[in-house]
Amino acid sequence: MTARAAVILAAGQGTRMKSPIPKVLHKVGGRSLLDRVIDTVQQAGCERILVIVGDHSQAVRDLVTARLGEAAAVLQAPQLGTGHAVLCGADALADFDGDVLVVNGDCPLLQPHDLEPLFKLRAEGAALAILGFEPVDTLLYGRLIRGGDGHVIRIVEPSQASEEVKAVRACNAGMYVAARADLFRWLSRIDNDNPKGEYFITGIVAQANFEDALVRADVAPESAVMGADTQAQLSAAEAIFQQRRRAWFLTEGVAMPAPETVHFSWDTQIAPGATIEPYVVFGPGVTVETGAVIRAFSHLEGARVGEGALIGPYARLRLGADIGEQAHIGNFVEVKKVTVGKGAKANHLSYLGDGVVGPGANIGAGVIFCNYDGFDKWETHVGEGAFIGSNTALVAPVTVGAGAYTGSGSVITKDVEADALAIERCTQLAKPGWAARFREMKRAQKAKKAKA
Ligand code: UD1
Repeated sequence: MTARAAVILAAGQGTRMKSPIPKVLHKVGGRSLLDRVIDTVQQAGCERILVIVGDHSQAVRDLVTARLGEAAAVLQAPQLGTGHAVLCGADALADFDGDVLVVNGDCPLLQPHDLEPLFKLRAEGAALAILGFEPVDTLLYGRLIRGGDGHVIRIVEPSQASEEVKAVRACNAGMYVAARADLFRWLSRIDNDNPKGEYFITGIVAQANFEDALVRADVAPESAVMGADTQAQLSAAEAIFQQRRRAWFLTEGVAMPAPETVHFSWDTQIAPGATIEPYVVFGPGVTVETGAVIRAFSHLEGARVGEGALIGPYARLRLGADIGEQAHIGNFVEVKKVTVGKGAKANHLSYLGDGVVGPGANIGAGVIFCNYDGFDKWETHVGEGAFIGSNTALVAPVTVGAGAYTGSGSVITKDVEADALAIERCTQLAKPGWAARFREMKRAQKAKKAKA
């Protein structure tokens, strides 16, 4: 198989997003547009990947360096157009022998199988393969102008298009595949003779045609290649992403009575046989095992939910919440960095942060793990089968032994031995008849006032 490399264009400012965050760092499904494109080209088998970055965002460069190494981030400054951007990668790929895929860095919905037709066209003899699409609104896109036998003669940008060309519905999606040597030779010959004064990559089509090289295009659905230039397009891409994930989980045997209300992350993992009730939100890093039920209005991120566990309604699982088999986390309970053992229960209004809850333990309503002293975080350990009375404050670091009880309302600052009872509150004072006397006195006072 011909070796594959990719050049991802991400140097543009993305001003139409009207955001302080660079365009390619905006997220779909909780993952940045650029990360998503890198994932896609990696899965498409590209063994060398360059990302063309601008000088306006260290964050974009950092992302590329972290994922692909420093050499993968190629600076384009100033930004003189898409053709100039790709040309900036010429030196880095000088020793590469194979096909180069060029792709925009802002296509969050692109999947490896969408790119395969381009490599196929190349294998079938096209010197340059282009991905086209027929968008609902063609206004902003370059038009693919074809010859009689379907090969592409040139791409005309909207700023240079006549009315006749504007009527063409086939548009350029901004993905191209050609042999490295051809691509960079064509790019070295394009000019910037256009109203924007930019070097357009689309000029390579005319250059290939000058050499009588075959240029072919494949047509992809708009939902596969759409970019995210504006907040509105970003939301539209998110909606399509969510729809795909919902359909996939339903096919996989996850029960969802109202899938249109459930929000997934790019890496959500849910086993067949789990149930997701309406209005559940998954942030990144969640795994749900079979038989678990995530009840309505729960929010989960960075958490694992074990087999048959019951979460919510209105539960919040944060990073490091590890909920064991058959455990229950009920309404208005927040769990962060706590391992909850098999069959343990925290059913109402609690904060469990940093620690361990043993198997079968019961955490009463209103229990707080007081884990933070303003500087450091400390752990709370609740032993197997322990019973933490309602409204107990467990001031970490603290351990409650297996089978121990704490009295409701206690502030527990010292470790509790296994099977002991710890109570930290005043002895109750009882005054027989006090309430009746009090009422009588109050009524008499009121009557006196009314008479006066
Ligand atoms: C480009 C195509 C157009 C196609 C459209 C599909 C050109 C000239 N036109 O349009 O035919 O229909 O994509 O979306 O290529 N970028 C750089 N450096 C630059 C300029 C751009 O890295 O100097 C990057 C941008 O960050 C972006 C990508 O190239 O990721 C495409 O740029 P954009 O301005 O969105 O594309 P258009 O020129 O509108």
